[in-house]
Amino acid sequence: MLSSTILAVALAGAAIAFTPSGFQPSSTQNMTVVFGNTLAVNGKEMQKADVAKAPTLGTAQRMFGTYTVMMVDPDIPPATAGGATSELLHWMQAGLVSSNTSTTVAGVTTFELINPMNVTAFATYIQPSPPDKAPNTHRYTQLLLNTTGNTSALTTLARFAMTRTNFSAVNVVNSAGVKIIAGNSFDVSNGTLVQSNITKTTSVAGSGASATGTGTGTRSSATSSSNGTVSSTGTPKSTGGASELTTGGALIAGLGALAAALIML
Ligand SMILES: *[C@@H]1O[C@H](CO)[C@@H](O)[C@H](O)[C@H]1NC(C)=O
Ligand SMILES: *[C@@H]1O[C@H](CO)[C@@H](O)[C@H](O)[C@H]1NC(C)=O
Ligand SMILES: *[C@@H]1O[C@H](CO)[C@@H](O)[C@H](O)[C@H]1NC(C)=O
Ligand SMILES: *[C@@H]1O[C@H](CO)[C@@H](O)[C@H](O)[C@H]1NC(C)=O
Ligand SMILES: *[C@@H]1O[C@H](CO)[C@@H](O)[C@H](O)[C@H]1NC(C)=O
Ligand SMILES: *[C@@H]1O[C@H](CO)[C@@H](O)[C@H](O)[C@H]1NC(C)=O
Ligand SMILES: *[C@@H]1O[C@H](CO)[C@@H](O)[C@H](O)[C@H]1NC(C)=O
Ligand SMILES: *[C@@H]1O[C@H](CO)[C@@H](O)[C@H](O)[C@H]1NC(C)=O
Ligand SMILES: *[C@@H]1O[C@H](CO)[C@@H](O)[C@H](O)[C@H]1NC(C)=O
Repeated sequence: MLSSTILAVALAGAAIAFTPSGFQPSSTQNMTVVFGNTLAVNGKEMQKADVAKAPTLGTAQRMFGTYTVMMVDPDIPPATAGGATSELLHWMQAGLVSSNTSTTVAGVTTFELINPMNVTAFATYIQPSPPDKAPNTHRYTQLLLNTTGNTSALTTLARFAMTRTNFSAVNVVNSAGVKIIAGNSFDVSNGTLVQSNITKTTSVAGSGASATGTGTGTRSSATSSSNGTVSSTGTPKSTGGASELTTGGALIAGLGALAAALIML
């Protein structure tokens, strides 16, 4: 019998996703992502120099509440040829709210997402900079998460954001229990544009609901404790495993940002 997760994945496959093909979690709602005056949507190939600073974000509809953007690169080359690619967290910023009035940027009318309370990023923006190594084209993926009024979700996101490497967007989103409002991706390449023969793997949820609809669909969850550890349940896949978190200086910095984000509730 099909589990509801498999069914949901199968149904999602019917609509156009604005996240890369096969990437989880997916979104069928688009998001405006603009660098300067250049739209970086629908998998557009961008130049590294043009994506040095964090983009302007927006949505077609004005939204009430407070949102968090997550940007990941699921195409980190494997350490050894033939291995699986892994995910890197490039950016995580909470405290985003819709502007009251729309603006037109790069020809698109959008309600810009702004950070009026100057909430410190959980993970500051890192410029895409793919190495000249297969896979040469990286799909930088943005997800907009609804974190309105959800202290526990923000706490979970802040803790996961402390470990950028071996990230798993799908496990983190599931752990935080937040809804994805919109998604987008753009590409940046180095060297040949010809796709390599390395299979780009995308992370899948806990014990393995995959984009093709196989697996049992058990979700992972995380519990936070006051001593700064997060323990995950569920079986992390090779590209998952964002559960390894550190304590110490990084944690204190992360919690400072969290405290600021909570003011936004
Ligand atoms: C998002 O989709 C809407 C409706 O199809 C479209 O008008 C808008 O231009 C799209 N936005 C971006 C940034 O592509
Ligand atoms: C939108 O307008 C309301 C009412 O004037 C104001 O309180 C709020 O700060 C504005 N929001 C933004 C994001 O500018
Ligand atoms: C946020 O930063 C801007 C620019 O530095 C400043 O004008 C504004 O007052 C700050 N807002 C808050 C709530 O601190
Ligand atoms: C391409 O990758 C190499 C390292 O592999 C790096 O030194 C170089 O700056 C990159 N160039 C671009 C345009 O990204
Ligand atoms: C985000 O969540 C809040 C609280 O549940 C809700 O009021 C709001 O409509 C949601 N935003 C969107 C765009 O669905
Ligand atoms: C708030 O976060 C909790 C745990 O992080 C999650 O289980 C719950 O679904 C979230 N609630 C909303 C309304 O998003
Ligand atoms: C990629 O795979 C194709 C088909 O298997 C093969 O013909 C080609 O030589 C391979 N390219 C590289 C760079 O290994
Ligand atoms: C942190 O708290 C958890 C849950 O209470 C506990 O299992 C773990 O041993 C604690 N870790 C440290 C380093 O104190
Ligand atoms: C990434 O996480 C997985 C699952 O937790 C783990 O097996 C793997 O060793 C990690 N890889 C690296 C490079 O840390």
